[in-house]
Amino acid sequence: MGSIENTVDPSVILQPNDLPAVPSILSSIQTLGDNLDSNDDATRQSLLAAARALVVALEKPRETMIRQCWAENALASVISLGVESGIWEFLASSSGPKTVAEIAAATNTEAAFIGRLLKHVAAMGYLIETASDTYEPTNFTNALTIPILNAGYRVFTGPGNTGGLGKCVLTLPSYAKATGYKTPKSMLDGNLQFAHNTKLNMFEWLMAHPPAGECFNLHMGGYAHGRPRWFGPGFYPVQERLLEGYDSTSSALLVDIGGGLGHDANGFLATIPEVSAHVVVQDLEPVISQIKDLDSRIEPAVYDFHTEQPVKEARAYYMHSVLHDWPDEVCLSILANIKKAMKPGYSRLLINENVIPDTKAHWESTGLDVLMSLLLSSKERTRVEWSKLLEEQAGFKITGIYGGYSGVESLIECIVPE
Ligand SMILES: C[S@@+](CC[C@H](N)C(=O)[O-])C[C@H]1O[C@@H](n2cnc3c(N)ncnc32)[C@H](O)[C@@H]1O
Repeated sequence: MGSIENTVDPSVILQPNDLPAVPSILSSIQTLGDNLDSNDDATRQSLLAAARALVVALEKPRETMIRQCWAENALASVISLGVESGIWEFLASSSGPKTVAEIAAATNTEAAFIGRLLKHVAAMGYLIETASDTYEPTNFTNALTIPILNAGYRVFTGPGNTGGLGKCVLTLPSYAKATGYKTPKSMLDGNLQFAHNTKLNMFEWLMAHPPAGECFNLHMGGYAHGRPRWFGPGFYPVQERLLEGYDSTSSALLVDIGGGLGHDANGFLATIPEVSAHVVVQDLEPVISQIKDLDSRIEPAVYDFHTEQPVKEARAYYMHSVLHDWPDEVCLSILANIKKAMKPGYSRLLINENVIPDTKAHWESTGLDVLMSLLLSSKERTRVEWSKLLEEQAGFKITGIYGGYSGVESLIECIVPE
């Protein structure tokens, strides 16, 4: 504990966090709820934010503490156990409720044990308890049967007895204390290495602990799934900025560097089915070898982005959630390899990342920023930091920053100045 004298009256523990804010939050909920329709995701998001604000305002600190320290941790852990043991698949396999005895028999688990765990999932609202020890799945538990969704739980709690990436979340306070509460600088000697007693970086550690690497790649697909994408309607003018002027006889339309399993390249090409285009997905060998189901216009290629870019003069070089993995010095060397391959006046660099605003940042990007720090000693960047990195240091010109509510998953377009 710090050395500052505590002057807070202990009675705050039993006072709601912000009761006076409740009437105005309720009134927003009423208005937003009246306007909710299934085609309007922005209103649904605003309603969700208001519902979260209502919980924060109504809860007493003791309740918040118990929920965060006990209930949410226990829930994530049980969800993960259900993924590994096949409980969610069994619940989804036929309609109607199932008893704990039936679930245990089908999943080779002990009824008395999993009955206790499932009761918590129901108490948290994610299973329907139709009678004692009897459960029906929900939309959420059905979604847990889909690999791109359940992989997030697997990579954070597993594999085996390693404690997964989740262990690094738990060690942050001790690691930060031991290193003087400073911004971590090295991806080879940071909190992940402290947590797992390893000299590997996160990607190497994941690949060295199968199936963690595979789960991480699937998790990236789950993270992107259903989000407004830069190649979707009303985000980035793909036709005007990429397709017009694309010389299909020369090089690639798009090179997706660190493109994982090709989710983005597939999604991008699905929006332009009629265009004859060459798209390259580049990643390390263990990732490229996992790729399945690619659009026939995509070429998967093994490539280490710390080396010379082999695809020259493409219309666009694209990176999604890549630069946020690396400190500035490494980003500059990755960017230099791309810049050398670009044709001034023709090639564009597209960076799909969070651009954290000065105020009112979204919890998805702030949460990811904390994870970047504790997993990779890296960060999500603000607009000023992007401009410093890309323009002042790497020598590109930013020609536009597109889309992204509260800066989440924006698309930064750059060119090489002529
Ligand atoms: C956070 S993931 C993003 C993956 C993908 N762009 C997406 O958004 O789903 C970062 C990717 O960078 C890849 N990567 C890490 N080091 C690399 C390197 N030296 N060369 C090429 N790719 C690398 C990882 O394998 C991983 O697929």
